[in-house]
Amino acid sequence: MGIKMHPFFFCFLLLLLVSPHSYGESEEDEFEEIKRSDFPKHFFFGASTSSYQIEGGYLEDGKGISNWDVFSHIPGKITNNDTGDVADDHYHRFLEDIELMHSMGLNAYRFSISWTRILPRGRFGKVNKGGINFYNKIIDNLLLKGIEPFVTIYHFDYPMELERRYESWMSSQMQDDFVEFAKVCFEEFGDRVKYWMTINEPEMVAILGYRMGSFPPAHCSPPFGKCSMGNSDREPLIVVHNQLLAHAKAVSLYRTHFQVKQGGSIGITISIQMYEPLDQQSDTQAVDRILAFYVGWIYDPIVYGDYPKEMREILGSELPSFSDEDKRYIKGSLDFISINHYTTKYAKDCFHSSCPDEVNRPINAFVETTPYRNGILIGDPMGIPGLYVVPRGMEKVINYIKQRYPNHSIFVTENGYSMRPSDGNKVETILNDWKRIKFHKSYLAALARAMRNGGDVRGYFIWSLMDNFEWIRGYDTRFGLFYVDHLKTLERRPKLSAHWFASFLGGYSQQLTQLSSI
Ligand SMILES: *[C@@H]1O[C@H](CO)[C@@H](O)[C@H](O)[C@H]1NC(C)=O
Ligand SMILES: *[C@@H]1O[C@H](CO)[C@@H](O)[C@H](O)[C@H]1NC(C)=O
Repeated sequence: MGIKMHPFFFCFLLLLLVSPHSYGESEEDEFEEIKRSDFPKHFFFGASTSSYQIEGGYLEDGKGISNWDVFSHIPGKITNNDTGDVADDHYHRFLEDIELMHSMGLNAYRFSISWTRILPRGRFGKVNKGGINFYNKIIDNLLLKGIEPFVTIYHFDYPMELERRYESWMSSQMQDDFVEFAKVCFEEFGDRVKYWMTINEPEMVAILGYRMGSFPPAHCSPPFGKCSMGNSDREPLIVVHNQLLAHAKAVSLYRTHFQVKQGGSIGITISIQMYEPLDQQSDTQAVDRILAFYVGWIYDPIVYGDYPKEMREILGSELPSFSDEDKRYIKGSLDFISINHYTTKYAKDCFHSSCPDEVNRPINAFVETTPYRNGILIGDPMGIPGLYVVPRGMEKVINYIKQRYPNHSIFVTENGYSMRPSDGNKVETILNDWKRIKFHKSYLAALARAMRNGGDVRGYFIWSLMDNFEWIRGYDTRFGLFYVDHLKTLERRPKLSAHWFASFLGGYSQQLTQLSSI
């Protein structure tokens, strides 16, 4: 495979020393050194991916058509009209990709199952053996290399058949389809998979697909956007409600029929942005409220059996209700908490000051968010608009989770850095990603502080193993530890950050030998 130590590796320490001071970071973010030994021996250090973003092979071996297959083929939806038809061609190169992880010394890998490889038409068709075989090979080869599989059952891609039949997550029928899908996964893979996440970011499925309309099925209404259908104030609530019940029923099935024999654990993944009060005096309640609306929306029902009172007070009967039977399923339907975290912003209370129309609404908790305070950005902007480097946010997120949901272990299942187009498009620039190294070092230092302070964190996964199809941003936005040449060869090349992570994890000389000998 021809992976060689990159010459940049030898000067990256120097680069880190002379790197310019960036925005809004505290001194401890900047200067605290972080070592593998700051984390427990059995801590999981891994990388994250998802099926549609890396696999390609979109019509192979009996795979059905997914919502994202359809959406990415609509001209104008994705940057450069990119699609996931080939993506990283992981479908054919998974052995090489597992070797990359092994060479870095990762002991865990989080990936998702393509629903349409397993059940091309949902529960309206048969199980597809081709898909089962593919994931069996991945799981077996990971275990062979001592890499623990962390499996997301559903990460944004579902059979188009379910959209056409009953509008997918808008219907309670989707719960039955999800439970059927999860059952096949437990049956086929549960003997070897010990960490399951039912759904990736149910709140983002709702917000991007049904409020903003930028993700499929592109529902929205003014003032949020112009879509051919949708109701941005109502539909996200329905879509989350159906996902929560789908999750709860799948967990119930797992616990009743699989967990005792298979000995695994199960949870659900949400994305958490942290917030700080814009004005220290008046905006603290805005922070509490917006966190209740995003974090509590998902985890309050799952931990405590119902939506947060902050949501009920503001949304009233627009917020769906759980029946007594629902509550029995959903309360306590998790073995661990799984969070994706990237950024922090300021929150401003719209009860006390004026906010734009699309913000000053119940569904937004009457909270405006902004990265600016007195014209100064909260952190260095990343490649995706709205993401800023704020390492202290990682510590705050863990503290928040620990307080609101005591006594749960936590996995950070995504954290990562995308470069800005203005950082340069030349391959050398992309490979020389010292900003990504700096990002991970400072976020890991913040994570270690939270753990010293009692946060029960068990693992940390970098988004992402390699550059991939970053949803509506296509291949333009790169989050990978490995560079992928999507235009021509699909060759993977380790960025400086891959070398850094390997050296952080395993000691540099051992990894050097492994990387060079692939
Ligand atoms: C995407 O496709 C549409 C329709 O064919 C075309 O008008 C547009 O220029 C394309 N965009 C790019 C970046 O190629
Ligand atoms: C915390 O969890 C442990 C193990 O699951 C359990 O034994 C203990 O009772 C729990 N404590 C609280 C306060 O819930």
